[in-house]
Amino acid sequence: MKKQPSDALVFFGATGDLAYKKIFPSLQAMVKRGHLNIPVIGVAKSGWNLDQFKARAQDSLQKHGGLDPEAWEKLSSLLHYVDGDYNDSQTYEHLSRELDQAACPTHYLAIPPLLFGLVVEKLSSFGYAKENSRIVIEKPFGTDLQSAKNLNSILLRAFNESRIFRIDHYLGKPPVHNMLFFRFTNIIPEALWSNQYIDNIQITMAEDFGVQGRGSFYDKTGTVRDVIENHLFQLLTNLLMEKPQSFDSESIRDEKVKILKAIPTLSAKNILRGQFEGYLQEPGVQADSKTETFAALELEVQLPRWKGVPIYLRAGKNLPIECTEIFIPLKSTSTSYTNYQISKNHIRIRISPQVTIAMGINTINPDCESENLPVELVANHHPDSLEMTAYERVLTDALAGDPTLFAREDYVEEAWRIVDPMLKADTPLYQYPIHTWGPQEVNTTIAPKGGWHHPE
Ligand code: BG6
Repeated sequence: MKKQPSDALVFFGATGDLAYKKIFPSLQAMVKRGHLNIPVIGVAKSGWNLDQFKARAQDSLQKHGGLDPEAWEKLSSLLHYVDGDYNDSQTYEHLSRELDQAACPTHYLAIPPLLFGLVVEKLSSFGYAKENSRIVIEKPFGTDLQSAKNLNSILLRAFNESRIFRIDHYLGKPPVHNMLFFRFTNIIPEALWSNQYIDNIQITMAEDFGVQGRGSFYDKTGTVRDVIENHLFQLLTNLLMEKPQSFDSESIRDEKVKILKAIPTLSAKNILRGQFEGYLQEPGVQADSKTETFAALELEVQLPRWKGVPIYLRAGKNLPIECTEIFIPLKSTSTSYTNYQISKNHIRIRISPQVTIAMGINTINPDCESENLPVELVANHHPDSLEMTAYERVLTDALAGDPTLFAREDYVEEAWRIVDPMLKADTPLYQYPIHTWGPQEVNTTIAPKGGWHHPE
């Protein structure tokens, strides 16, 4: 059923970092595409007026992607600003005047999770949570299973699930979306997608930078909570889910939850944690911090299709390169071919910074006929400026009321169920020099047979 489009966008945290880096550039892009023609009301407590707020937006566009004079003129005319404390009723009275007659506003909470409860309750008591209004929240959705349940119950007291949009910006990335298209419209992956042909699965999210001034946030979070239980689990479920009955939001989200449900709860033996050397000197980090900046996990999916396929996920800061990639070695063929060294075939899906789907195969080396030359059949796709960014995509979908690319309540709780006891266990933490592939210990504990494939 087609949802009613929102007729106003309210965003809390309007003078914050997320707004500056991601939201204003996305709003400008939406204007350019003709996807935004409703009032955009920023709410924050900074003592600013509308002109100062617009100056901040303008500055954000200049620093992040460039200001388009025509689009900016339009966006500027849509901007409103409410200054006030989130706990103060006057803020919401002022918001009410700015909202005017809006019947279907979207409230976007780009604020620290600690404030979600307060703002949601205020919105509800001022009558902004009713009927067609929507709420958009940013990860982290809690810090463990219990806090995720608490957060869900706060949200669900005011909004029903169909009106709650939990952003995992990874889902808004075109190549992540494309994973389903690739899998379900092509006979090649369909034929290979099971334990009959897949040897193991490796998902790597490597970043070649540290915590970039976010030390105090990161130190309370760590790699598993920051990117593995959300972004990498989204990649994993897209990769392994069964074909949905249809491609509507709930059929897709149902299938993804089924994958999480089939993953046994993890424990200390499933993880190897690392911390880059020098992390303790980062501003905002506790002097004796035991927070991981690298983690490798091994897990399995207990479904007949995936039985016996080990799955490895790893992510880390200050690794050698920046790259998110899925690498899937296939099983060996039973054929040996005289004296040739035969490699395993593989499938490689690179999410960023380049977008690639590749298949590794064996061919005879034309320069030396007695040798195998492993090559890749590569489908490369270079995003250009016409492609939506992840944030533009998810904001556009939230305003249109399409929940496909958002995490559902049951999904979020299942993801926490999987990692919760493992995170609470006392697991060792190993140091690693910056710009290496994490601690050495990972290679003897959480590693595929034959070792990790490091993206190049
Ligand atoms: C965020 C994490 O969710 O994702 C960051 O908090 C991480 O630590 C970022 O750097 C990565 O996102 P992207 O889109 O740059 O790959």
